[in-house]
Amino acid sequence: MTTQPTSAAQDLPVDMIIFGGGGDLSARKLLPALYMAHLHCNLPPSTRIITVGRKDWSREQFLAFMEEQSRPFVDAKAFDAQAWDRYLSLFDYVRIDVNSASDYQRLVEASRPGVLRVFYLSTSPELFTTICDNLSSAGLVDADSRVVLEKPLGHDLASARAINEDVGRFFSEPQIYRIDHYLGKETVQNLMVLRFGNAIFGPLWQAPYIKSVQITVAETVGVGSRAGFYDHTGALRDMVQNHLLQLLCIVAMEPPVSLDPDAVRDEKLKVLRSLRPMTVADIARDTVRGQYSAGAVGGEPVKGYLQEDNVPESSRTETFVALRAHINNWRWANVPFFLRTGKRLQKRQSEIVIDFADLPFSIIPSGPRAYGNRLIIQLQPEESIQLQMLAKEPGSGMRMLPVNLNLDLQQAMTGRRAEAYERLLIDVIRGRLTHFMRRDELEAAWAWVEPIIDGWKELGDAPRSYTAGTYGPAASSALMARENMNWAEEN
Ligand code: BG6
Repeated sequence: MTTQPTSAAQDLPVDMIIFGGGGDLSARKLLPALYMAHLHCNLPPSTRIITVGRKDWSREQFLAFMEEQSRPFVDAKAFDAQAWDRYLSLFDYVRIDVNSASDYQRLVEASRPGVLRVFYLSTSPELFTTICDNLSSAGLVDADSRVVLEKPLGHDLASARAINEDVGRFFSEPQIYRIDHYLGKETVQNLMVLRFGNAIFGPLWQAPYIKSVQITVAETVGVGSRAGFYDHTGALRDMVQNHLLQLLCIVAMEPPVSLDPDAVRDEKLKVLRSLRPMTVADIARDTVRGQYSAGAVGGEPVKGYLQEDNVPESSRTETFVALRAHINNWRWANVPFFLRTGKRLQKRQSEIVIDFADLPFSIIPSGPRAYGNRLIIQLQPEESIQLQMLAKEPGSGMRMLPVNLNLDLQQAMTGRRAEAYERLLIDVIRGRLTHFMRRDELEAAWAWVEPIIDGWKELGDAPRSYTAGTYGPAASSALMARENMNWAEEN
């Protein structure tokens, strides 16, 4: 039985309990993020952090692990030895075999009564049900407890539903924080302000004034040591189902009535439900799967995907996807959304490009014909917003040239930028659900993605090879060229 959180929860001291606390994500992201929150006094007073793991470690051994594996991921400029020591004093380590119900007694002893318990499940999703069940049987879950679920949240629609059902038996929906770290990025949140805090874009933010939208998340890294996970996952499930579709939602959603979690999530859900389902013919025409072969990134030679450790030599897993999506609603009818993501691409670059409609007619003959303005929202590595427009070239004639209105957000606003995980962890502690996915959103995203996975199987296509250090297979450029369009870097 689940119950609704109480309003007093905000004033309680916090026990942050991290399952998978000795894992890679915890070491690289969660523990450094909590350190930054501690350094900037964003953790409530008397917060405790209890890391849970399988290893038979003492507290001291866990702290030694943190020194070695986590501290290197703390921004060196932000490191303060005294603050770090105080941070370590918040920690406890509890050894638990998550399948053994009796082990949870150790957590009962370590966690304080009457606190707000936040359970962060940074484990394989197959363990979520067992962990929640055992936590509940041990009496550790109450109406104020919160659970954070790390991705991957399912492998397909059925498994995502099963996770939601199972976790829902122990936690009510307002207690569940499904994390998509892209929603914690400063620039992604800024996109909401760009759209809903500036009147000038409102009237233009629709068909026919917008001709197309591009969303690119390009990475230079390869699969690294994650082949065991990645080879069963691929870029569509790893990146498109969550991060790229969430970006698409923020670009495409109607103005929510407020920033309340459900107001925002209702609007995102409508977008996901309006995505035009793809038939097998659409999939053959409008999607491109790629896999990197050996090449060079940033001047360094790199292996191909099939040569990476633990990748089967006949693997057909995609490390690149480009696709054309459509949203069936009034605002976006006939506006293609081009999504693209890949590993071992030329540059680390995430951006959203809004291509405005061409001039209906140009009275100035000496300019680029049919020029449309372009708004480029760069999310990473730099945060900037550029508006491409035409201006007159100085001189006696009337020649027009493209120029950029360029806003460098780092320069314009010099305040500290918290990492996505820091911001989201603070949101969990403060009970702010706006930047977390609701159950129906997650399922709607899977419902759209799953037929693409099935379609690829039916088509039996091997991924197209692309050389590491390029922008993916040539078919990705062809996808846009077919409509007389191009990716931003091809301009
Ligand atoms: C993760 C994916 O969710 O996001 C990784 O599992 C990917 O494969 C990462 O590398 C990208 O995140 P960021 O913040 O580095 O763009």
